[in-house]
Parts: sequence; C-alpha cells; structure tokens
Amino acid sequence: MTRAQRKQDHINYALSTGQQRRTGFDEVAFVHQSLPNIAVDEVHLQAEIGELNWSSPIFINAMTGGGGESTSKINEELTILARETGLAIAVGSQMSALKDPSERKTYEIVRQHNPNGIVLGNLGSEATVQQAKDAVEMISANALQIHLNVIQELTMPEGDRDFRGAMDRIQEIAESIPVPVIVKETGFGISKETAESLSHSNISAIDVGGFGGTNFSKIENQRRKRMLEFFDDWGIPTAISIAESHKASIKPILASGGIQNSLDIVKSLGLGASAVGMAGIILKQLLDSGLEDTIEEVNQIHTDIKFLMSALGCRRLENLHSVPLVLSGDVFHWLDVRGLNPESYSNRTFNK
Ligand code: FNR
Repeated sequence: MTRAQRKQDHINYALSTGQQRRTGFDEVAFVHQSLPNIAVDEVHLQAEIGELNWSSPIFINAMTGGGGESTSKINEELTILARETGLAIAVGSQMSALKDPSERKTYEIVRQHNPNGIVLGNLGSEATVQQAKDAVEMISANALQIHLNVIQELTMPEGDRDFRGAMDRIQEIAESIPVPVIVKETGFGISKETAESLSHSNISAIDVGGFGGTNFSKIENQRRKRMLEFFDDWGIPTAISIAESHKASIKPILASGGIQNSLDIVKSLGLGASAVGMAGIILKQLLDSGLEDTIEEVNQIHTDIKFLMSALGCRRLENLHSVPLVLSGDVFHWLDVRGLNPESYSNRTFNK
C-alpha cells in the first residue's frame, strides 16, 4: 500500500464511517438572557490566536494532500472555500510531499489559490526540525500544526509503534521555525495532563481534536483483517476536552472533533476555545453538494453565529468565555470527578 493509496482510503472511510455525534455538546446549555441590549450588526467574528488573526471563528482542519490529482482537487476547492468565506485552512500531513517531491503540488495549490489567507502546515510529531522548516516553506505557512495520533498509528496496520521523545521534538521544532506551532489531536482529545505539559512548552496553541466526530480508529479498523474494536470508543469527548484543556493551559485552546453546526461552534467558544476547526463535515458537504453550496452554507453558519452571539449579548468571540453555561449528564460528571469544577461555568457572569 503506497502513501497515496492510504490518503484515498482515509477520505473514503472518513465519509463512510461518518460523524458520530458523541461530542458531549448536547449536555452543554446556554442560559437565555432576555435583555441582551445589542444589535446583530455590532457582532464581530474576528478570531485572534497570538499573531494569527482572521475574520471567522472557523478554520478548515487538516485533511489531505499527497494522494495525487484527487487530493489536489479537494485541496483546491477547500482553499477556494476558505478564501471566499474568510476561513483559515490547514493542509493534511505534508510528510508525503517531503518523502516524494512529486506530491508537493497537491499542497502548494492551497497557497496558490489563497495567497493572502491564513494557511496552516501539518506534520506528525515524528518530524525533524528540517522537515518542519521544509513544510512551512512549501506553502508559506502562517503556522505549523503538529498532530498527535497515537491511537490511529496503533490501529493502522503499518503504523508506528514507538512514541518516545515526541514532546522533545515538538519543543525543538517550536524553537527553530519562524512561525507559531499548534499541537493538535486527531479525534481522541487532549487531557488536562497533556494540556499542562504542552502549556509549559513554547508552542503557541493547543487544538483538542476531541472524540465524537471523525473516528480514526474506525477508519483504520476498516483497513485491518482483525479489528481493534476496543479503540472505537476510546477518547475524550470534544466538549469535555475543551474544558479540560482550557482549565489546565495558559495557551489558547482551539476546539475540534465532531463540530457540525453553528451551535456546536458557539458552545465550543463558551467552553473556552478561541477558534474552532471543522474537517469531516466540510469534506462531506463539499463532495456531496459542491463548492458553491458549501460556500453558501458557511456564510449561513456565520450569520447563525452572529444571531446566537446576539441572543447572548456578546459582541466579540472572547465575550463568550464569560457567559454562563450549564453542564449536565456525563459532561458534568466527568469534569466533577476530575476535579475541574463544572459549576464554575454556571456561576460566571458576563458584564456587558
Ligand atoms: C484527517 N485528519 C488529519 N489530521 C492531521 O493532523 N493530519 C492529517 O493528515 C489528517 N488527515 C485527515 C484526513 C481525513 C480524510 C479526515 C476526515 C481527517 C484529522 C482532522 O484534522 C481532525 O482532527 C479530525 O477529523 C476530527 O475532526 P472532525 O472531522 O470530526 O471535524
């Protein structure tokens, strides 16, 4: 199996296994306020993550490249979507282009069609400093995502079996490259312990990549004879992972993993995220409905977010960090037994 074939498998199986809707967002509720004293026109959707800023709370999370013409076409359409709607965009892991230069164009196309947008490079934590520099240079990346994917590698028949030294390599990369480093999970969530370790390093942001959406255990299990089904239910649901990471880290938190709609986005911001990544749902919409409809859908989501923020009296994304949220069920229980004080969300006040 070549890397390029594996990329195509990931797309096909991501679409067939789908989004699981086990993120925990259904157990997170806002408290309605009848006197928000705001006009929709006053709401701004500008996201700011350190030196990165763009006009939406949404970024398209890392998916593809490195699988020949079909992945090039997807990246071309994703980047036009990002350009037309003001989203930031990450490319999929660039390792394939570093190993096989003929695949470079499947990534470079993102910068070609989106010369002024926020574009994020992507590599795994096995990458060397030189590979990180080359990946950034390949697409003039504004930041580099480094993904953590232990469960995917273990489930992947041909995956890595040695996970030593990742934190040291991430530190070294963050010290050596000219752009911010964002560390991301890939659907199994970041715990408070991991967030604490990352927070003490010189990386710039943490993307929780929580459980409940695209499931890379299910995807890799489709490629195995003997399935490792015990990993299919493994992981920290996204809503919980945002809260764990937000409470443990002083670095900005990005939310992703099963984000499907405007309410999921606004709840993620309410739980402490500064921006929100969407992958599987955007891929499905693009391949099912085409680019024009997907642009229209993202524009609608932006309007929805403005309506939701108006209902909560919030003019800026960071105001959502102070509005009261009531957590219930498993989300409440998990944060309670982990000593993370879920009542702190319900007792807070937003002073407009
Ligand atoms: C991914 N994802 C991913 N992540 C990463 O860091 N590097 C990569 O190369 C890929 N490749 C990839 C391919 C496909 C087809 C999908 C759907 C996803 C993971 C992605 O960025 C994200 O972390 C997870 O998919 C969870 O988010 P969603 O899909 O539930 O929104």
